[in-house]
Amino acid sequence: MTILVTGGAGFIGSNFIIDWISKNDEKVVNVDSLTYAGNLQNLKTVESNSNYLFVKQNILNKKEISHLLITHKPRYIINFAAESHVDRSIHSPDEFIQTNILGTYSLLEVIRNFWMSMAVDAKNDFRFLHVSTDEVYGSLDSTEKPFTELNRYKPNSPYSASKASSDHLVRAYYKTYGLPVLTTNCSNNYGPFQFPEKLIPLVIYNAITGKDIPIYGDGKQIRDWLYVTDHCSAIRKVLREGKVGDIYNIGGLNEIANIDIVGLLCEILDEAIPKANGKSYKSQIIFVQDRLGHDTRYAIDASKIKNNLNWHPLETFETGITKTVNWYLQNQDWVKDITSGEYRSWVEKNYS
Ligand code: NAD
Ligand code: TYD
Repeated sequence: MTILVTGGAGFIGSNFIIDWISKNDEKVVNVDSLTYAGNLQNLKTVESNSNYLFVKQNILNKKEISHLLITHKPRYIINFAAESHVDRSIHSPDEFIQTNILGTYSLLEVIRNFWMSMAVDAKNDFRFLHVSTDEVYGSLDSTEKPFTELNRYKPNSPYSASKASSDHLVRAYYKTYGLPVLTTNCSNNYGPFQFPEKLIPLVIYNAITGKDIPIYGDGKQIRDWLYVTDHCSAIRKVLREGKVGDIYNIGGLNEIANIDIVGLLCEILDEAIPKANGKSYKSQIIFVQDRLGHDTRYAIDASKIKNNLNWHPLETFETGITKTVNWYLQNQDWVKDITSGEYRSWVEKNYS
C-alpha cells in the first residue's frame, strides 16, 4: 500500500511523514516543488528508508502528477502543499492564488480521473484529505464562541481567502462527482521544523541572535495553539475513521495572546540560556506596525473530532512549548541553513 503526500517538505508535512513512517510499514511518496518553505533537511531521518520516496514536482503540473498517481496507485492522498504565510500573502498574493486555488483545482481534476479508473474496492477505500486552516472562518471578538464546522466562511487575508476557495472546490468535487474527500481545518501549529518567519520560531531565533523581537500592533491578538504532532495524529484519525465528505475542526484549546506567548518564550529562554548582560530577553521586544487586516482572535471548538472520532491532543501547551524551544536550541544549524539571503530579504521587506 502507498500514500501520497503533497507539500511534505514543509513544516507540518514533514512532521506527518516522519510520524507516518515510524508507525506504518507503508510506502510514502512525497511530492513537493520545494519553494522557499520546503526543506529536505527536515526529512533527513527518513530519506534512506525504503518506504520513502521524494519527487520534486509542482501540484499544478497535471501531466506529471497524473503519471505519479498511475505509477504509485496511492490509497490516500494528503494535500499539505500551499503557500502558508499570511504576511507573504499581503505582500504578494499571486503565489497564493496559483498554488492554493489553482493548484488544489489541478490536483482535484487529476485525482478525479485517477479515482474514476480504479477498481470498485480500491475506489471505495480511496481518500483525498485536504489540510486547511481555521483562518477560513475569519476573526472572532472576545465574546464569540469558538469556530465549529458550521461557522460561515469569512476569510480576511489573501491567504485565508485562497484556502477558503480551495475548501469550496474540495467540497464541490464531493458533491458533484462523489470524490471521497475529507477536509480538516486546524488552528495555529507550532513545533520542530517550522520556518522562522512564523511567530514562535521567529521569536526564538531573534532572541538568541540578539535581534529585536517584533510584536505587531498591541500584541493582544489571540491564536489557539496546537503542537504539530497532535495535528498529525488528528489527520491520521480523520483519514481512517472520518466520514467521507465531512469537515473536521482541529484545535488545542490553547487560546493565548501573542504578547503572552512572546513573554513566556523569553522567560523559558532566560532560564535555558541566560543573556550575558544579565537582562531578560524581554528587553529585546519592540512593538511594530500592525499587520493589515489583522484577525483579532481564532479559537477552535474541536468537539466533533473528539466526540465522533475520539481524538485528543497529547501535548499541553506547557509540554509542547518546552519541547519546541529545546528543539530550536538543539538545532541551531537547521535554522542557520535556512536563514539564507532569501530569508534576510523577506525580513527586510516585512519589518522595514
Ligand atoms: P509550509 O509553508 O511550511 O509548507 C508548505 C509546503 O508546500 C512546502 O514544502 C512547499 O515547498 C510546498 N509547496 C508550496 N507550493 C507548492 C506547489 N505548488 N506544489 C508542490 N508543493 C508546493 O506550510 P505548513 O505550515 O506546513 O502548512 C501545511 C498545510 O497546513 C497548508 O495547507 C496550510 O494552509 C495548513 N495549515 C497550516 C497551519 C500552521 O499553523 N502552519 C495551521 C492550519 C493549517
Ligand atoms: P503567524 O505565526 O504568522 O501565524 P498566523 O498569522 O497564521 O496566525 O502569526 C501569529 C500571530 O503573531 C499573528 O497574530 C501575528 C503575530 N506576529 C507578530 O506579532 N510578530 C511577528 O513577527 C509575527 C511573524 C507574527
